[in-house]
Amino acid sequence: MAELEWRLVNPSGGKRVVVTKELPGDHWADVLTAADCRVEVCTETKMLGAEEIIAAIGDRCDGAIGQLTETWGEELFAALDAAGARAYSNYAVGYNNVDVEAATRHGIPVGNTPGVLTETTAEMTVALTFAAARRVAEGDVFMRAGKFEGWLPTLFLGELLWRGTLGIVGAGRIGTAYARMMIEGHKMNVIYYDVRQGEALESFVSAYAGFLESRGEEPVSCRRVETLEGLLRQADVVSLHPPLDESTRHMIDAERLAQMKDNAILVNASRGPVIDEAALVAHCRAHPNFRVGLDVFEDEPAMKPGLADLDNVVMVPHLGSATSWTRQGMASLAACNVAALLMGYPVWSGDDIRPFLEGTPPEAAPSIVNATELGLPLCGG
Ligand code: DGY
Repeated sequence: MAELEWRLVNPSGGKRVVVTKELPGDHWADVLTAADCRVEVCTETKMLGAEEIIAAIGDRCDGAIGQLTETWGEELFAALDAAGARAYSNYAVGYNNVDVEAATRHGIPVGNTPGVLTETTAEMTVALTFAAARRVAEGDVFMRAGKFEGWLPTLFLGELLWRGTLGIVGAGRIGTAYARMMIEGHKMNVIYYDVRQGEALESFVSAYAGFLESRGEEPVSCRRVETLEGLLRQADVVSLHPPLDESTRHMIDAERLAQMKDNAILVNASRGPVIDEAALVAHCRAHPNFRVGLDVFEDEPAMKPGLADLDNVVMVPHLGSATSWTRQGMASLAACNVAALLMGYPVWSGDDIRPFLEGTPPEAAPSIVNATELGLPLCGG
């Protein structure tokens, strides 16, 4: 195995923390330094495999910050446990790459980074929606190829979204933020499909509808639908926001794609395997007016054969959370999770994580997904 490059932060720290990728900003490193951690940061851009991470954990490791590109399962948690670790944080809000049950069996709390990605990921979802609907990437390629010979009444006609029907699959934090942007900006009527009632979304739409009516404008509406099929048949835009688990893997397959309008827009900034990507390629080939915006891919970083050749698909490389503010915030939250657990602090029970983003953070771990299973004490919020 080739030697990996590492950067040391606070070499004299008494606790050893392994961080598998360089993270943006300084606050996260200051937090771990203040908690007396010696931090070893892998500065490689290549994706690390299990063997490399186990070698990095070594015989003694108190905590780790890992990436969504790594599979944190039994093997890695057994290695962390044997090395004496009592803290792990994913550098992501999603944790489908983490076997939380295995971590819990080994007594290791698992942190994640909610609250700083919401608007950022929603904005990227909006960007992909309009790029797909208005054929931005196709137009860009056309311009760069020097093919623009003058304005034409029929050049790259797309879809108008104003006052159309927006279908939200998963009305959680990001789904709701995205819906709000599309409702406020484009007066779309919303239908949503979720196992839970989207109270935040419904109460926002009801208040906004009242505001529009008070100005003599047509109101907007929000309705929860009973079935995914019901949503797919009616929506002009379908945006996917479910967590990835066995119930949502391939929730959009050939049969479900066939239920959508031929000129619908499908956007996915959640997790790639929510869509059967091979079926999507076939559907897009057969339906040139069906348009897709993708931030995530089934076999990331690979694309299914044929995807890259489709003009009706616009893609970015998993950039949903890629703003400096958000990525620095994620680093602060991951560091606070590990530092607080190693200092023996309780777990934050509130939703507002802003106090953790700069300066001296509260004496708490901002977000630990298996806190209840491990019986960790809660505080504040
Ligand atoms: C996450 O945090 O789960 C995101 O996918 C990162 O962009």
